[in-house]
Amino acid sequence: MFPVISNEQIAPQVHRLVVVAPRVAARRRPGQFVIVRASPEGERIPLTIADADAKAGTITLIVQAVGASTQDIVAARGGGLEDVAGPLGEPTAIGLVGRVVCVGGGVGTAVLFPLAKALAEAGNEVTAVIGGRSEPLVILRDELGQFCTHVLVTTEDGSLGRKGFVTAVLAELLAAPGSRPAAVYAVGPVPMMKAVSELTRPLAIRTIVSLNPIMVDGTGMCGGCRVTVGGEVKFACVDGPEFDGHKVNYDELLSRQNTYKEDYCRLDAAVKRAGQ
Ligand code: NAD
Ligand code: FES
Repeated sequence: MFPVISNEQIAPQVHRLVVVAPRVAARRRPGQFVIVRASPEGERIPLTIADADAKAGTITLIVQAVGASTQDIVAARGGGLEDVAGPLGEPTAIGLVGRVVCVGGGVGTAVLFPLAKALAEAGNEVTAVIGGRSEPLVILRDELGQFCTHVLVTTEDGSLGRKGFVTAVLAELLAAPGSRPAAVYAVGPVPMMKAVSELTRPLAIRTIVSLNPIMVDGTGMCGGCRVTVGGEVKFACVDGPEFDGHKVNYDELLSRQNTYKEDYCRLDAAVKRAGQ
């Protein structure tokens, strides 16, 4: 059992859990993830390690409770999680490149957070552009403000920051003389990462995206997380989750993500009915 010592709701359906997992906390590096099961019968859910405290032996996970398994994780019945396997995946390659823009869409901002923090700690000048559908869905704004030079916010309904998508603000940053970044990191919905990559491609700005295809084992054996990058088959769990945004086949990724959507919604509704 991995005790959950703090469980805070930071947005509708989004929880921040602090979990005691000393061996993961000691070894994890930015960009890596764990696979979590809430109970022995639970589904395996990949979650990015948003932060860690090696001294305290804890890791921070940000979980969007969208289905039965993620709801079980945020409920943490019995005070803990059954399994926390990791750290998994390739760590982010963090270098000193100068000015960097980190773009986070919705819950993807939780994945972006450790990358932005590591980039700032390495001496880069980090601007964060984060967005959500409305104000309550914009997460980690204050936390990013602790180390980013600027945190620019967008909402689709205009309830906070600029009205519109994060990509509108990114386009302005790319067009402004003297503010062009050396690299862009983007994490969020697939159409957002595709749109970011299309903005930076003509300018040949290095663009890194973090992909979240369906994962099962997290060790490169099941093939569930297969993605095509630069015409080659890659497995996000062992070769990623970060890839060159200009080389990802986003249309294939989106189609694979949607494969089980209808079945999943039916199953989730059935589980909810059974629990009533
Ligand atoms: P959302 O759909 O509400 O979008 C959040 C923001 O992303 C929007 O407000 C907008 O600013 C931007 N965005 C969305 N679509 C865009 C487009 N077509 N062009 C430009 N910008 C766009 O996001 P949400 O519901 O909070 O997040 C859920 C999504 O994030 C899911 O699709 C999930 O799979 C993905 N996600 C990805 C990762 C990852 O590692 N890549 C991690 C967590 C969540
Ligand atoms: Fe099975 Fe990546 S999750 S190969």
